[in-house]
Amino acid sequence: MANLEILLSEDMIRNRVREMGSEISRDYNGEEVLVIGILKGAFVFLADLIRCLDLPVKVDFMDVSSYGLSTESSGEVRIMKDLEQPIEGKNVLIVEDIIDSGTTLKFIEGILQRRRPKSLKLCTFLDKPSRRKVPVTPHYNGFTIPDHFIVGYGLDYAEQYRHLPMVCVLKD
Ligand code: IMP
Ligand code: MG
Repeated sequence: MANLEILLSEDMIRNRVREMGSEISRDYNGEEVLVIGILKGAFVFLADLIRCLDLPVKVDFMDVSSYGLSTESSGEVRIMKDLEQPIEGKNVLIVEDIIDSGTTLKFIEGILQRRRPKSLKLCTFLDKPSRRKVPVTPHYNGFTIPDHFIVGYGLDYAEQYRHLPMVCVLKD
């Protein structure tokens, strides 16, 4: 794997995810939270994060996709898989792998806000703020990273590398 360079080791990830779990547990203070994972990239982070939550937790998933063929987000998003349950009156925590342009999370946040949850927060494993096109600020952010293309820990390039236990920069 000569084209991969480690950016975040397994140890760094484990420690940070534990910290995030403690912070989230403190903030929700024993209240139930519905954790919504954005497929597919968030599934590894979500699996580790929820095991660090000292709260009543439920889990659901949503899958969205951008229109268009280009790798750059076209700004249009549609729902490929919706939630299995209503979220009205619930504490909802959206869990995403990475915020890049912000288009995806802004869209999801808008849709879910209209369903009248009790609270709605965003939690991302990685944030690339230098790439932002629409303003989105996560309530919880694992790591702020520079503008590199990242794979591993759920993140893919052409569906490869999701299984890597660390986060790597994909070279050219
Ligand atoms: P956004 O709508 O531009 O914020 O894009 C967010 C989505 O793009 C993420 O959920 C990822 O699926 C994908 N993405 C953005 N940057 C990367 C990256 O560096 N590696 C892998 N996927 C990425
Ligand atoms: Mg994604």
